[in-house]
Amino acid sequence: MTRDALLSVRDLSASVDEKTILHHVDLDVAPGEVHVLMGPNGAGKSTLGHVAMGDPTYTVTGGSIVFDGNDITELSTDKRSRAGLFLSFQAPVEIPGVPLSSFLRSTLDERPDMKMKNKQFRKTIKELACELNMDQAYLDRELGVGFSGGEKKKVEMLQLLLLKPKLAILDETDSGLDVDALSVVSQGMDAYRERCDGTLLIITHNTRILEHLDVDRVHVMVRGHIVAEGDASMISDIDENGFEQFIGADDASEAHE
Ligand SMILES: Nc1ncnc2c1ncn2[C@@H]1O[C@H](COP(=O)(O)OP(=O)(O)OP(=O)(O)O)[C@@H](O)[C@H]1O
Ligand SMILES: [Mg+2]
Repeated sequence: MTRDALLSVRDLSASVDEKTILHHVDLDVAPGEVHVLMGPNGAGKSTLGHVAMGDPTYTVTGGSIVFDGNDITELSTDKRSRAGLFLSFQAPVEIPGVPLSSFLRSTLDERPDMKMKNKQFRKTIKELACELNMDQAYLDRELGVGFSGGEKKKVEMLQLLLLKPKLAILDETDSGLDVDALSVVSQGMDAYRERCDGTLLIITHNTRILEHLDVDRVHVMVRGHIVAEGDASMISDIDENGFEQFIGADDASEAHE
């Protein structure tokens, strides 16, 4: 583990239904940094996010995940969340019958370190909704039901700013986000970094949301292998030349397995 990494993924392999998806993945994120995980469709990026968060769909077949100094490889998702890890889903949930505000209240109640009286809670979510240019009426609407892509993004950012996790893994949908939704995401990420000293691992194909961020490190995943890493200049390189240059690099790492 890098000495002061907040998240340290070491030699991590994971499978679903006997099929290995992640192969010996190494990835370190230091506190306060912004990392980007890129790679072609089906590479395993979302899977890495889910495995980091403890999704029981996946089986860890090797390696470890250390977060904030503790080995969390075997921990349940709620314990990881309490430890300060946050994952936004590529396809956010819909829960008919549950108003957004109740959902937010319940996620907060799961965090004993974040006790908030009801009045303070209402005030906080109203202020955040206002900051994110979100109609207050949404707080009383059923979670996710009939929300547009942009509205779902706003909810995600509201959750991020309310929960103030130590590390947020944002798995970004790239389709259907208009300029306004993109700016909501950028704004939310900025606020999280400034107000919460946030650390980000962003999974995306859409490099526009990265334009206003100082990206510290880029990781490229192909067929479940991390095949390249570098600084922010890799983003424009990938934009121009695509992933073609990395395809085949996973064969080389497989040869070493
Ligand atoms: N629950 C699952 N059951 C079966 N296969 C799965 C499951 N989750 C992921 N996979 C498979 O693992 C591979 C990696 O999927 P993943 O969603 O992690 O890719 P991705 O890099 O996030 O792709 P995209 O850029 O399209 O979002 C794919 O072949 C996918 O079909
Ligand atoms: Mg994905």
